[in-house]
Amino acid sequence: MKTKVKYKQKRKEPLFVKESLFPAIDYQPTGNINYKTIKIHTGNIKQNITAIDQLLSFYPREDVFFEISNGDLIINLRQLDFSDFKKKIQSFIENSDNEVSQLLNSILFHIEKIKSYGLKGKKRLYVGYNKERKVKGREEKEKERGIYFYARDNTFSKRNNEVPERFINQIISGDSEEILKKFPENCIDLIFTSPPYNFGLEYENHKDGTNWNEYFDKLFKIFIECIRVLKYGGRVIVNVQPLFSDYIPIHHILSDFFMRRKMIWRGEIIWDKHNWNCKYTAWGSWKSPSNPYLKYTWEFLEIFCKGDLKKEGDSKNIDISDEEFKKYVIGKWDIAPERNMKEYGHPAMFPENLVERVLKLFSYKGDVILDPFNGVGTTTAVSKKLSRKYIGIDTSEEYCKKAKDRLEKTPIDMRLF
Ligand SMILES: C[S@@+](CC[C@H](N)C(=O)[O-])C[C@H]1O[C@@H](n2cnc3c(N)ncnc32)[C@H](O)[C@@H]1O
Repeated sequence: MKTKVKYKQKRKEPLFVKESLFPAIDYQPTGNINYKTIKIHTGNIKQNITAIDQLLSFYPREDVFFEISNGDLIINLRQLDFSDFKKKIQSFIENSDNEVSQLLNSILFHIEKIKSYGLKGKKRLYVGYNKERKVKGREEKEKERGIYFYARDNTFSKRNNEVPERFINQIISGDSEEILKKFPENCIDLIFTSPPYNFGLEYENHKDGTNWNEYFDKLFKIFIECIRVLKYGGRVIVNVQPLFSDYIPIHHILSDFFMRRKMIWRGEIIWDKHNWNCKYTAWGSWKSPSNPYLKYTWEFLEIFCKGDLKKEGDSKNIDISDEEFKKYVIGKWDIAPERNMKEYGHPAMFPENLVERVLKLFSYKGDVILDPFNGVGTTTAVSKKLSRKYIGIDTSEEYCKKAKDRLEKTPIDMRLF
């Protein structure tokens, strides 16, 4: 007996299929294609096959097809435009009875739950996306090479402490080296900061542009305190811009300092500001190999971990979305410089978006965030907005006052609850 199955999508010819013979279910993959399979326990699968078949018929069979095995629905996935799939499935749900809706919801839930996939245009690739990177016996080889060998013999205590209540959600005016000495060890989850770069900028009460030895001497003293107060498993992320015209690679010098202090260098993010306002060439060397001056439109974020790459936290306090995660783990961030520096009267502020990305990618809601060079308080304002606890320190009373005013005007983002 032949049954006419009505499909919602346009087909070139009317499709006549035998009862229980559906294009998406009967697909036999050719060649050596692997699939990610999802098994869904379902009651009346036979009666609901039509709906699933209709839904999957919108996509190439070699990308997604299904089978029934022992009454379970098996979905085979190779690649899928997930946002299109989600929209389709939602419109199917609106037009279906309760039982079918439940099954469709369950399919959506299971596919959405897959967090490991590659991206190709709009499609999520569920198999083969990390093929080239596959190294046989990777773990043994890592052991042999000595993964972060320089930080293995650290003597960090694993016992974390609470920050004294009087420091929580405070803007503190003073020298970070002195202030941080009052903190117990292992009490801060994440430090995100940008020290003065020694370029000669006009700060309110900080002399920017001293002898490099003095500069590093002071910076290291503050970072020694930062490492001490950081929790075991905590992160320090430092935004720096080397002074290329002095041929001082601050980011390398800092990385070397942190690694000698047994911190794990976790990676580096290029913050591309697309700032083309930098000089093109040394005088007299235009179009000559004699002394070309390299142009950088970006700054660096150097990331270090104390003791462990993994940071413990409750999964219900994660606030990064799938799309944000996929975007932020790529180590080049295109973010324009802050535009409101004049309004705040500060020459070197973070854009809020930069802080937002750092906090969502490297911390949980409720974590304690410290900025020991807090300026007019971008880190502290965004921490408040994203439901983190915050501590900001700056030598300038004027900047601290602005940071406090800013906090008062910053609401907590309720969309995150
Ligand atoms: C690059 S700015 C940070 C700006 C900040 N990210 C913002 O968005 O406003 C560096 C800050 O470090 C402060 N500073 C310099 N030496 C300091 C010290 N020893 N302790 C605390 N803050 C210091 C300066 O006053 C300046 O505001």
